[in-house]
Amino acid sequence: MTRKIFSPFDSLLAELRRPLREIPLATYPEFTGCTRADVHDGLQGQGGLFLASDMAKTLRLAPGMRIMDLGSGRGATAVFLARKYGVRVFAVDEYKPDSVFERSGARELSDLIAPVRADARQLPFAEGFFDRIFCMNAHFYFATDDLYPPYILKFLKPDGEMVIGGPCYRDELTADTPEEFLLEFPACLAVHSPLWWKRHFERSKEAVVIASELHPRGVEFWEDRVKFLLETEDCSTMPKGRLGMIRDILRMLLRDHDGFVSHFILHLRKGAPDKLSLPTPANVTPPSATAGR
Ligand SMILES: C[S@@+](CC[C@H](N)C(=O)[O-])C[C@H]1O[C@@H](n2cnc3c(N)ncnc32)[C@H](O)[C@@H]1O
Repeated sequence: MTRKIFSPFDSLLAELRRPLREIPLATYPEFTGCTRADVHDGLQGQGGLFLASDMAKTLRLAPGMRIMDLGSGRGATAVFLARKYGVRVFAVDEYKPDSVFERSGARELSDLIAPVRADARQLPFAEGFFDRIFCMNAHFYFATDDLYPPYILKFLKPDGEMVIGGPCYRDELTADTPEEFLLEFPACLAVHSPLWWKRHFERSKEAVVIASELHPRGVEFWEDRVKFLLETEDCSTMPKGRLGMIRDILRMLLRDHDGFVSHFILHLRKGAPDKLSLPTPANVTPPSATAGR
């Protein structure tokens, strides 16, 4: 239902000169029969379950696998993963992870979902405990430290996989980056490009980054979320923080003409990079050996 009583954003929306884009539910057959609220409720960032589903698809999940949902927030992704894939999800968050059981249908999945209140930098798990790690819209809070990749990779089994998804800049910030792109400054300083995250994990020499790429709908995710909030919440009673966030996202979208502010997915496999595929003096035939044949 569309509810629009008062919008302090009318002038910004008019400046945009086009409607905010909405991701059609039909483009994600896995959400057939769901509403837009089902896809967005309980999520604390952009992308909703659309992004969660695209992330999950990379992981080749199978029933019974042990998954860490790192920075799980209110648990919407933990419920989604447990329900759709039958995996056992440890929903890890430093703030009230047990709120996962407030989500519709979560109680029936309680044998598959374990909330764990913990700091992502002090995890109470044994090494090699997880088949997969899933981290959505949370990595920038705790994962930028040089020592974080080797730390978090410890908790994966050999050949285990991790997926990270969330906001990114297409390229790194520079001194000339427009002020409108510095969303939630200084938190935005921890929001990097897909290439930055790829190198960050590769430097550990303990993971092969299979892909780290802009999501094709990375810009739309911003628009889709703002559109959903404006259609379902009453601006006259919205908390000040949320009003400010919507205004700042709209200002950012107005300034961005070529997809600088987006979302990405990084997918990696634990394990040393395959040294055999690297050209080394030992496995490269010297040009002189074939010359003249
Ligand atoms: C933007 S919310 C995203 C939540 C959820 N993944 C989602 O997509 O809705 C970021 C989450 O990261 C959690 N978080 C931030 N820093 C953390 C840390 N050091 N350890 C554990 N959780 C943390 C916050 O409590 C919050 O729930």
